[in-house]
Amino acid sequence: MNQPVMTGVAALNVPAYIKHQKLIDWVAEVAALTRPARIYWCDGSQEEYDRLCGEMVAAGTMKKLNQELRPNSYLACSDPTDVARVEDRTFICSKTKEEAGPTNNWMAPAEMRTTLNGLFDGCMAGRTLYVVPFSMGPLGSPIAHIGVELSDSPYVAVNMRIMTRMGKAVYDVLGSDGDFVPAIHTVGAPLAEGQQDVAWPCNATKYIVHFPETREIWSYGSGYGGNALLGKKCFALRIASNMGFQEAQSGQGAGWLAEHMLILGVESPEGKKHYVAAAFPSACGKTNFAMLIPPASFNGWKVTTIGDDIAWIKPGADGRLYAINPEAGYFGVAPGTNTKTNSNCMACLGENTIFTNVALTDEGDVWWEGLTKEAPAHLIDWQGKDWTPASGTKAAHPNARFTVAATQNPVIDQAWDDPAGVPISAFIFGGRRSTTVPLVTEARNWVEGVYMAATMGSETTAAAAGQMGVVRRDPFAMLPFIGYNMSDYFQHWLNLGQKVGAQAPKIYCVNWFRTDAEGKFVWPGFGDNMRVLKWMLERIDGQAGGVENVFGVTPEFKDLNWDGLNFTQEQFQQITSIDKAAWTEELTLHAELFEKLAYHLPQELVATKAEIEKRLAN
Ligand code: GTP
Ligand code: SPV
Ligand code: MN
Repeated sequence: MNQPVMTGVAALNVPAYIKHQKLIDWVAEVAALTRPARIYWCDGSQEEYDRLCGEMVAAGTMKKLNQELRPNSYLACSDPTDVARVEDRTFICSKTKEEAGPTNNWMAPAEMRTTLNGLFDGCMAGRTLYVVPFSMGPLGSPIAHIGVELSDSPYVAVNMRIMTRMGKAVYDVLGSDGDFVPAIHTVGAPLAEGQQDVAWPCNATKYIVHFPETREIWSYGSGYGGNALLGKKCFALRIASNMGFQEAQSGQGAGWLAEHMLILGVESPEGKKHYVAAAFPSACGKTNFAMLIPPASFNGWKVTTIGDDIAWIKPGADGRLYAINPEAGYFGVAPGTNTKTNSNCMACLGENTIFTNVALTDEGDVWWEGLTKEAPAHLIDWQGKDWTPASGTKAAHPNARFTVAATQNPVIDQAWDDPAGVPISAFIFGGRRSTTVPLVTEARNWVEGVYMAATMGSETTAAAAGQMGVVRRDPFAMLPFIGYNMSDYFQHWLNLGQKVGAQAPKIYCVNWFRTDAEGKFVWPGFGDNMRVLKWMLERIDGQAGGVENVFGVTPEFKDLNWDGLNFTQEQFQQITSIDKAAWTEELTLHAELFEKLAYHLPQELVATKAEIEKRLAN
């Protein structure tokens, strides 16, 4: 690599409307360390968005799609080594290792700062430092929190404008001394004088670092998704989960939860409305469930979206749990999305969308595996190569994504932006399991539900770098996202449940992914998940049947509505049967997890496990 040129510090050029001296000093300090060629303060305007996209088109980072077929939309293709979150490079640098816990990577804060100061020294040479102010949650809402991301990636700046409330108005809320989470991001590719840039700069060395004590985020080396859009996993999950826990620890309140959950509203034909929140691991169906289209036979049922990935949850004045979606857009998985599985999602993507790592058609539109039954005869794949159905490779990367504003969702809930949030009637936890775990189980009580969520397993997906399809424990679908000790996190959930008492939401565990002998999904999934959702709502209102088993309550065949679907009792048996041998094996994996989490592990969970084992032995 060429030696970066040590230029002087770029002019700060602070806009007159920014009155926050601490923020200005911090930008100056970061600029002195990273030495960008220019500093640009984002205002969040449409004009700015269009201009930055235009600059990226000129630089070869993005292509403008066909204006007739896909108005105001772009395709960005990343470096093939920079396509997903990097969990093994993600660190929680709390004061002690115990506070980060055995499921997080940890390094002593001082040591990590030394490493980062070395890496960030001159890392933005030749590039522009974008100052990106954003609010997670409605601007000015008492539950919202502000962040400022300093990034040398214009791709990050435009994506943040879609994913968060980004722009000038944030400074009005910040005033002269408001709190914000400082987040620093670099692609880690300084440019020497005259050096030609590449389409997707990044670095083989990657660090995604959180300092919970000072609520700082430092990200190095990746331009992709959750590695780079720091409002999302880094702030809204890792830092925020820690904030919610600390609030309870410090005795300043009950605390709150930051969860990897979609939030949806569901209204019956009689007009009765419930809100539910569901945690599924990455690429396991949250976006789809959040925009679910009920089967035609479910006349009059309506599902509406509050959020598709993250929920912040707090007890309200009436003692119920209320949830908000801190985001303003969707960064969703493209492959598998089509008008049959999710036409609401497809409707979101008609215009004003940034696609990343999908394929380009000859007409200048996009394509991905699963979009149409038959692939086009010719495409340019996500790596820029000619592609035909005979190529034998995937035209779109399995973790290819779209970035789109929530307001483009045709079934957005009218309360999606309400600062008060919506009251939650049920929590659903679901993993991707080809065997063992039944279609749906209702926990008999809060502790049993927390146990189910805590011991959840799921097969890994393309959303994170590493091996795909291996079962791992993914407690609460939060394994890579809890910003503190996981045992303390379990305790925090138990405490909140106790606090809300009888008003606590019911807890369910689902699995849409059981397969048959040929490896095909037995459950039709997607819109038909409505059948399971309806059963849950009827249980909440005390109107549906179910039988107790080893883990909780499950429906019998007769308890679900089968109108308009040809699904036999035998097929139902296939996805609801409980295999004792498999569950005995499964319990050894729970034991392994509990051993790992022994420090601070809540005794209620140990006791729940013992009860399950007793019932299983009978
Ligand atoms: P993140 O954004 O990574 O957190 O993921 P997500 O949970 O929002 O995942 P998403 O809804 O985008 O789904 C990812 C994949 O799961 C897609 O390939 C879908 O086709 C598939 N999927 C979603 N719902 C279902 C379902 O009910 N059944 C089956 N078999 N597949 C599903
Ligand atoms: C996930 O991996 O759970 C995502 C995508 O939602 S990313 O923003 O890249 O984390
Ligand atoms: Mn996610």
